[in-house]
Amino acid sequence: MLEFYEPQADYGTPKSTSTTMVTLSIDGVSVTVPEGTSVMRAAAENGVKIPRLCASDQLKSFGSCRVCLVEIEGRRGFPASCTTNVEAGMEVKTQSDQIGKLRRNVMELYISDHPLDCLTCPTNGDCELQDTAGEVGLRSVRYGFEGENHLVAEKDESNPYFTFDPSKCIVCSRCVRACEEVQGTFALTIDGRGFDSKVSVSQDEDFMGSECVSCGACVAACPTATLTEKSIIEAGKPEHSVITTCAYCGVGCSFKAEMKGNQVVRMTPYKDGKANEGHACVKGRFAFGYATHKDRITVPMIRDSIDDPWREVSWDEAVTYTAKRFKDIQAQYGRNSIGAISSSRCTNEEVYLVQKMVRAGFGNNNIDTCARVCHSPTGFGLKTTLGESAGTQTFASVADADVVIVMGANPTEAHPVFGSRLKRRLREGAKLIVIDPRKIELVSSPHITADYHLPVRPGTNVTLLNALAHVVVNEGLEARDYIAERCDIAEFGKWLAFIGDERHSPENTESITGVDAADLRGAARLYATGGNGAIFYGLGVTEHSQGSTAVMGIANLAMLTGNIGRDGVGVNPLRGQNNVQGSCDMGSFPHELPGYRHISDKATRDLFENEWGVTLDSEPGLRIPNMFDAALDGDFKGLYCQGEDIAQSDPNTQHVEAALRSIECLVVQDIFLNETAKFAHVFLPGASFLEKDGTFTNAERRISRVRKVMPPLSGKADWEGTMALANALGCKMEYNHPSEIMDEIARLTPTFNGVSYDRLEQLGSIQWPCNDDTPEGTPIMHVDQFVRGKGFFAMTEYVATTERANRKFPLLLTTGRILSQYNVGAQTRRTQNSEWHGEDVIEIHPHDAEERGINHGDWVGINSRVGDTVLRADVTDKVKPGVVYTTFHHPVSGANVITTDNSDWATNCPEYKVTAVQISKVTEPSSWQARQKSFDKQQQGLLQRGLSQSARH
Ligand code: SF4
Ligand code: SF4
Ligand code: SF4
Ligand code: FES
Repeated sequence: MLEFYEPQADYGTPKSTSTTMVTLSIDGVSVTVPEGTSVMRAAAENGVKIPRLCASDQLKSFGSCRVCLVEIEGRRGFPASCTTNVEAGMEVKTQSDQIGKLRRNVMELYISDHPLDCLTCPTNGDCELQDTAGEVGLRSVRYGFEGENHLVAEKDESNPYFTFDPSKCIVCSRCVRACEEVQGTFALTIDGRGFDSKVSVSQDEDFMGSECVSCGACVAACPTATLTEKSIIEAGKPEHSVITTCAYCGVGCSFKAEMKGNQVVRMTPYKDGKANEGHACVKGRFAFGYATHKDRITVPMIRDSIDDPWREVSWDEAVTYTAKRFKDIQAQYGRNSIGAISSSRCTNEEVYLVQKMVRAGFGNNNIDTCARVCHSPTGFGLKTTLGESAGTQTFASVADADVVIVMGANPTEAHPVFGSRLKRRLREGAKLIVIDPRKIELVSSPHITADYHLPVRPGTNVTLLNALAHVVVNEGLEARDYIAERCDIAEFGKWLAFIGDERHSPENTESITGVDAADLRGAARLYATGGNGAIFYGLGVTEHSQGSTAVMGIANLAMLTGNIGRDGVGVNPLRGQNNVQGSCDMGSFPHELPGYRHISDKATRDLFENEWGVTLDSEPGLRIPNMFDAALDGDFKGLYCQGEDIAQSDPNTQHVEAALRSIECLVVQDIFLNETAKFAHVFLPGASFLEKDGTFTNAERRISRVRKVMPPLSGKADWEGTMALANALGCKMEYNHPSEIMDEIARLTPTFNGVSYDRLEQLGSIQWPCNDDTPEGTPIMHVDQFVRGKGFFAMTEYVATTERANRKFPLLLTTGRILSQYNVGAQTRRTQNSEWHGEDVIEIHPHDAEERGINHGDWVGINSRVGDTVLRADVTDKVKPGVVYTTFHHPVSGANVITTDNSDWATNCPEYKVTAVQISKVTEPSSWQARQKSFDKQQQGLLQRGLSQSARH
C-alpha cells in the first residue's frame, strides 16, 4: 500500500466515544456527530477545515491560539471551535469577513516573531504554521521588524534524533501536552509569562540531560519546525509512505515508513494503528538506521571450519551446499541429527515455513523458537487453565481497568507505548500494584505512585501468588457466582482446600517472599474488591524454574476474582519480541503444529500430511536445550538458525558455545554476523523488516501487516531463503508471495481460518481467533465461557529453586531490559540509541556495595556457580539489599556466562531471573571476556578476508 506522502489527517480534537448523536448546522449544512465532539472536529469530519495552531486530535483541547474562532448563532463573540462542543440545533459559521480579519491579526502576531526563512526551512511544505498563514490569507506582516524577538534563541541539538530550535517556537504548548498526555513523562514545561514564555526542558536542561525518553511525541505534535527530526533536516521531505509494523517489541506499533526512493527518512507512528494509536517509543520511531548499517552482510557465505575464512558464494551454491551437508549428516547420524530454530523477530509466514521445512523436509520435529527462553510458560500455563495460549485483552482495554497488577514486567522500559497507555489510566485514578524485586519506574513517577509495591524475592513468585489467593479465599472475597458458572467446580474444590491452608498465609510466607504481610493483604483486598482488575506480566514471571506454575497462579487469581472475559480485566502477557505470539501460533514448538495442536494428534497430522504430501513424525522433537545437550553427546550435528542469536541470548554461555562448536553444519540466517554466526559454517543473509512482506502478531493476538518498503539487500527475503533451502532438500515449496503462505496457514488453522491479506487490508489488523464465528477477530477472549470449557484451577505448590543464595553466593542476580536497547542489542547497538546505554552495568544496593567496598562506577567481578564476568557497578536503591540486577544488551557483558542451566519444569524456559552470585571489586575483565574479545577479533578477521567490498552494505 504505497501512497504519495501526505501528513496524516488531523481532526483537531480527540474522537468522542459517545453513542448519543447530535445534529447541528455548519456553514448551512446539517451534520450529525457524537455528543462531546468539538465544533472543530465536527467540521473536519464533514470536510470543513477550520484553521488552528494549538489543537491536535492526539491532545485534549487547550484553546490558546485563538486562530480557530467561529461564529455561533445566538452566542456573543467568537468562540474557539476546539474548546466548544456541539449542541443540538447549533448553527455554526466558520467563515466571515470578521472571522477572517481576526484570524489574520492573530497569525500576523505569530509570524512577526518567526524567522521568515520558509524557503530554506527543513519543514517547508510540511508546516502547519505555513499552511495556516495561507489558510487565513495572511499576505503581509506589519510588526516585529524592530524591538525584541526570539529569533536568536539557541538551538538544542543534544538529542541524536531531533533538534529543538526555539527561534521557531510559537509557544502553542502542543509539545508540552504531548509529553504529558500521550507519553506521560512530563519532561517539558512552559516557563515565564507573556512575551517571555518559552518551552523549557526539565529544569532548563538540554534534551539529553533531561528525563526525556526520546519518544518523539512532542516532535510529532509540533506544528512548526521547532522540533524536527534530524533525518528530515538532512534528507528533506518524504515523497511516499508505506504502512508497516514495528519490528522491536510485542506492542506491535503501526508506522508510516516515510521514504525518499528506497531510503527511509522518517518513521511516523500511525494514528489508525490500534496497538499504538499514533504513539511510539525511541526504538520504533528513531532506531531504524541499523537496517542500512555498514555491518550488514548481504551475500551468502560458506566455510568448512570455523577457523577458515568465509567464502562468498551465490544463493544457489549456499543452499545446495547446505542441503548436501544436512543430507550427509542425516545419512551418517540419523534423521533426528538435524533441526532448526526459528525467530520471533521474523514474520509469521517465515516462521511457518521454517517449521514446515523441518517437519516435511528434515522429517523430524526438531523445531524450536526463541519463545522457549521467554514466554513458553505462558503458552503452557494459560492453555492449561483457560484453554488458549494467549493474552485475553486488547491494550485499549486497560482504559476500563480499575486496579492493575504489573508483575515481573517493566512496561515503561520494555513495552513503552503500552507503558504510556497504562500511565494515562493510572493518572485518571486506577489503582496500581507492582510486584517486582526492583523499584521500576511505575512504582513512583510523575503523577503516579503505586498503591502497593511488593518487592518479591527472586524465585518466590509462586509463594506470593498463592498468598494473594489465600487472602482472597480466607477473607471470602472470591467471585462465587462467576466461579460456579464458569469454572470446573470439582477442581476448584480441591484447589480451595489447598490454597486455604494456613501455610499460604501472608504471615507464614513473609520470610520466603520478603514481602510485608500487611502490604500483601492490602494488595489482595484491593485487587479482589477494587472493580475491574487487570494483570499484566512479563518475563519476571516466566523465566523461573516455576514459570509455568506462576502463570497458572496468575490465571487462578483472575478466575477467583471474576476478572476474565470483559473489557478492563484479564491476564495479559507482555511479549518481549515483536512476533513472540506469532512464532508460537505458527507451530514453532517441537510438540505442536500451528494453532497449538499436539503433533501426536492423528486428525491434525492428517490435515497437514494431506496438504504437504508427506508423512509426519508423531513424536515431539528436541527443544533448544535438548539440542545443545544432544550436540554435546554427539547426536545432533546440523542446525539451521534463523534470526536468533543463541550464543548471546541463551543461558550458560560456555555450555552453548561448546554445543555450537560440536555442530558440523551450523547455518545462520541473519542480517549481521552475530555471536552465533561466529560458530557457523553457512551464513545466509537475512532481510530486515523493511525489506519484506508478511505479518507480525503482537501481544494482543493482533495480526498486522509488515510491508516491504525497499528491496531485500541480499536479493531474497527470509521466506525466500528458507524456500530455496527447502527446495534444495527436496521439500517442494512454491510460493510467489507471503499472502499465499498465509492462505495455507488459514486453511490449516481453525483460529486463522478467516485471515487473509485482503481481510487485513480491509480491517487494518485482526486479533485471532478469526473465522466464520468471529469474522472481524476477537478483541476479548473467554467472554461467555473459557476456551477450554470450564476454567481450571491448577494446583500451584511452591517448590523452591535449587538456585539459592548461600555464604559463597549471597546475592541473587536478576536480569531485565532497558528502554533504548533491545534484547541482544544487535539492532539498537547499531543506532544512536547507544548514546543512552553504551554498556550494561550491575545495579547493587548501597548497603551491599558498602559491605564490599564498592563505589559507584567501580569494575566488579560477578561470580556464579557456572561462571564469572565483569561489569561496572551502579550503586542504587532501585534494588533491595540482597538483590543485584543487570541488562544483557552487549555481548561483551557476558550476562549469560553467569546464568545457569536451571529451567522451568514444564517448558525448559531458562531461569534467567534467579542466579546466586558473589560480587567483588576487580581490576581486569574476566577470562571469558578476554577469550570473547580475541575470538571476536579472529572471526572479524576471517570475515574481512573472505568478503569482497560489494558484500558489505
Ligand atoms: S516547540 Fe513546537 S509544539 Fe512546542 S510550543 Fe513550540 S511550536 Fe508549539
Ligand atoms: S521526546 Fe517524548 S519524552 Fe522527550 S520531551 Fe518529547 S514527548 Fe517528552
Ligand atoms: S513500543 Fe515496541 S512496538 Fe512500539 S515503537 Fe516501541 S519498540 Fe516498537
Ligand atoms: S486551535 Fe483552537 S484555540 Fe488554538
